[in-house]
Order: sequence, then structure tokens, then C-alpha cells
Amino acid sequence: MKKIPNQIAMDGTAASGKTTVGKIVAEKLDYLFFDTGIMYRVAAYGANQKLHDVSDEAKVSEIVENMNIELQNDSVHGVTNVLLDGQNITDRLHMPEVDKIVSTVAAYPAVRDALTKQQRRIGLQGRVVMVGRDIGTVVMPDAEMKIYLEASPETRAKRRYLENLSNHIESETYEMILADIIKRDKDDRERTVAPLKPADDAVIIHTDEYTAVEVAQKIFDLMG
Ligand code: DC
Repeated sequence: MKKIPNQIAMDGTAASGKTTVGKIVAEKLDYLFFDTGIMYRVAAYGANQKLHDVSDEAKVSEIVENMNIELQNDSVHGVTNVLLDGQNITDRLHMPEVDKIVSTVAAYPAVRDALTKQQRRIGLQGRVVMVGRDIGTVVMPDAEMKIYLEASPETRAKRRYLENLSNHIESETYEMILADIIKRDKDDRERTVAPLKPADDAVIIHTDEYTAVEVAQKIFDLMG
């Protein structure tokens, strides 16, 4: 008989397939899918709107601590709507401007602290697939299943480039996306608080050669 984990933590580098795979797994199990990267994107977007620059750690942290972020799962369209102080900003969160500043904001300890608390609360409700960078190490260290997805920077840049095209975002070339991914990997891995790394008990899956459906199948196979 299958042993279905109550909490599934899924971490990995930018564009490693966490979101697509996580959604497939959550849908099949009828679990909540929760993308914590969205929260860091909202924080970066919101702070940048107010300050036009995110280099002042104290000011950014204060803004984020007082933000009212609501996530609404729209299961009909398979998307999570994000409201910042009541305004739907979902379609702005994957703009290149946000990609460029998000890892700076995500490295601020007070920002991480504020968002981690909210993520833990959601995790405790169980029946959840939570994706991010530090879910298995910091947010849900007791999760019964921990997955870490990896792929080469080139594969990930290609995926993101094609995804942008299908979303009619054409302002960035493949080379620009690749450079951004390499920089974000470095920032995410080298920050002092909650750096990107696999938990000791995570299963590492290399996704270069596989489709999202195949990766999801590997995860189901791990459940026995
Ligand atoms: O997964 P993503 O590309 O949407 O994440 C956006 C940024 O947020 C990424 O640079 C790393 C950061 N992040 C994080 O530090 N911790 C998480 N749990 C999720 C995302």
C-alpha cells in the first residue's frame, strides 16, 4: 500500500521545474499547492513599487513586515491569484524587473523571518506540496517527503525562455535569461540565512532529460 506523505517539501534552483512538477503532484493527491517563491516575488515587487529601489534593507524589511499578502488558489484555471493590499498583481510577478531584484530581497533576514512564519502556518495544516528554496531545510524540516530538483543552467534558461514566449514576454533573450539564472543561483546559494541547498534527507532528482510528468511519476514511485 502507498504511504502518502502529509507534507511534501520541494526545493531546487530557479526554473528547475518545481512549480510545474509540484502542481502535478498536488493535483493528483488533491493537496494544496503552495509556491513560496511567489511570496518573495510579492515582497520584491511591493517594496520596489514603494521605494523604486530595494537596496535599503531596513526600509524594505519594514514594508514587507506590514504587507497584507493574500493567496487565492483558483483551481478552475490552475493558478494562484496573488493580492497585495487587496490588488491583484498576479501577472506582474514574473516580469524581468522582478526576476532581477528578488534574490536581493530574499536575502534580507527580516523579510525571510516574516514570510517563513506565514509559510510554516500553512505547512502545519498538512496535505500540502510546498515549493521553494528552503522548505526541506528551514520551513518544514519535519516533512515526510523532501525532494530537491536540479537541472543545468542551460536547460533551465531554455525552459524559462520558452515559458516567457508563451506568456508573450519577449523583452529578454536566451542569453540574458541564462545570465540571470546563473546570478540568482549564486545569490541563493551564498546568502547567509537559509541558503539554497538540499536537506540531508532530500531525494535529489536531475530533471534535464525528463518531462515534468515523468519527474512527477518518479516522485509517486518514491511513495512505494
Ligand atoms: O522560485 P522563484 O524563482 O519564483 O523564486 C523567486 C526568488 O525567491 C528566488 O530568487 C529565491 C527566492 N526564494 C527563497 O529565497 N526562498 C524560498 N522558499 C522561495 C523563493
